[in-house]
Amino acid sequence: MSSRPFYVTTPIYYISGTPHIGHAYTTIAADILARTARAWDGEARSLTGTDEHGQKVAQAAATAGMSAQAYVDDLAPKWRGLGPAFDAQFSDFIRTTEPRHRVACLAMFEKMRANGDVYLGTYEGWYCTNDETFWPEAKLVDGRCPNPECRRPVEWLSEQNWFFRLSAYRDRLIAHFTAHPEFLRPASVYNEMMRTLEGGLEDLSISRATLDWGIPLPGGGVLYVWFDALINYITALGYPDEGGLMARYWPGMHLIGKEIARFHTIIWPAMLWSAGLAEPARVFAHGWILADGGEKMSKSLGNALEPFALVDAFGADAVRYFLFREAPFGSDFSISVDKLRSRHNADLGNDLGNLLRRSLAMLARYRNALVPQPVESDLGERFGEIGAQVHEHVIALRFREGLEEIWNLVTALNREIDERKPWELHKQQRDAELDALLYDLCEGLRFIAILIHPFMPAKATEMWQQLGQPGTPEVPWQSALRWGTLAAGTQVAPGEPLFPRLEAPPAA
Ligand code: MSP
Repeated sequence: MSSRPFYVTTPIYYISGTPHIGHAYTTIAADILARTARAWDGEARSLTGTDEHGQKVAQAAATAGMSAQAYVDDLAPKWRGLGPAFDAQFSDFIRTTEPRHRVACLAMFEKMRANGDVYLGTYEGWYCTNDETFWPEAKLVDGRCPNPECRRPVEWLSEQNWFFRLSAYRDRLIAHFTAHPEFLRPASVYNEMMRTLEGGLEDLSISRATLDWGIPLPGGGVLYVWFDALINYITALGYPDEGGLMARYWPGMHLIGKEIARFHTIIWPAMLWSAGLAEPARVFAHGWILADGGEKMSKSLGNALEPFALVDAFGADAVRYFLFREAPFGSDFSISVDKLRSRHNADLGNDLGNLLRRSLAMLARYRNALVPQPVESDLGERFGEIGAQVHEHVIALRFREGLEEIWNLVTALNREIDERKPWELHKQQRDAELDALLYDLCEGLRFIAILIHPFMPAKATEMWQQLGQPGTPEVPWQSALRWGTLAAGTQVAPGEPLFPRLEAPPAA
């Protein structure tokens, strides 16, 4: 691990949309990463927020008969509530309409202009307002936007704009990609971006002369919404002040969906270099959540699951667990209420919930709910390094492998009960063996509560309380995950089942 504290960001979400489970996915991933990094290193920083400028917002506000500012102020709280609904905590939430962001964008623009990378030119091209993107003529499909989810008519724009000399950074980008294959994951997206770079780069138009909803530029016009949006990651670290948070946390890691990789791994590093700053440490482009039919879930396709309704039906923790257990982070996968229910009942209810319930019930019955003395144990040997292993998986974005590692411990504890049969040990008065088993179970459960905390903060805390532990399971892993730490004599407090079984609704 480098000594720089961890900094992770989500994309900033287009404010005119409605949050769906795909947005919650990145938000939760960032939270799991930050919580894990914090548990290991003692600190971490995380950022999310909203992307509020651009023509799309200006048009939506006009249609709603509102000023753009009133329109975005109206929508912002809904997005701000997305993280908290899933128990995701962020160090900061940025809105691109905040004054601090205007200051950062203009400073960056001036820095790039001063070194000759930003110049005035005439832009002509086909523009899709929905995607806020210029498309080359050859890419249009029947004269319309080539994005299969959009396919709206494009407009011909011709205006005097500011340009960023992106083409000048192609060789440096190729060299960076080549020297640092870990800069962008997964490999499929890395390869796609490499092909884009090899195909050549054109300079980028970074202002809009005729739009007034955006960051105003000297001499008129506003910044192109993507140029403005990318800068959010350093605005939130206090840029243009390059000391303070910038010095401490930059460069950070960006989590994004794969369709916005070009902005984050080609345009953004070049902008940063132009302003004399370091490129992002890493970019991870995750897969898409698909609807049952196999298409990408999206608001425009009308097939998106409403995240707040899923929390009501399953609880935040079960949804968090599902999203990161179901598929590797780089792959597409589908989600449905039936799949969620079956993982809830099997992995969470049967495997984990019952393990806690059975273990604590036996401790209550045989030992007055008091944890016995620790003894040497095979489990302690086997799981002594589990904290380091789970941490390593999660920081490398292998969330699923991290959960599988934790579930190996869940399975091992269930197996100990089945094989060592505590009820027989009790009947046969083999007290030392029964003590050893009960200690192992409680200690293993304490480990599990600590390890699942980044994934399922509320359920981990409930487990923690039932195990009679003080405070929360948000404890430093390197010292807390030593087998034998649980104090003999701790009084446990068996409570409600962690994941009560959910029945399928009767067929209509
Ligand atoms: N505003 C830009 C990002 C600017 S970042 C400087 C944007 N916003 S968005 O709201 O359209 O999308 C935000 C993120 O949500 C993207 O990373 C996108 O991949 C992700 N998702 C949208 N639908 C998704 C799924 N169905 N599944 C997984 N992620 C999805 O783009």
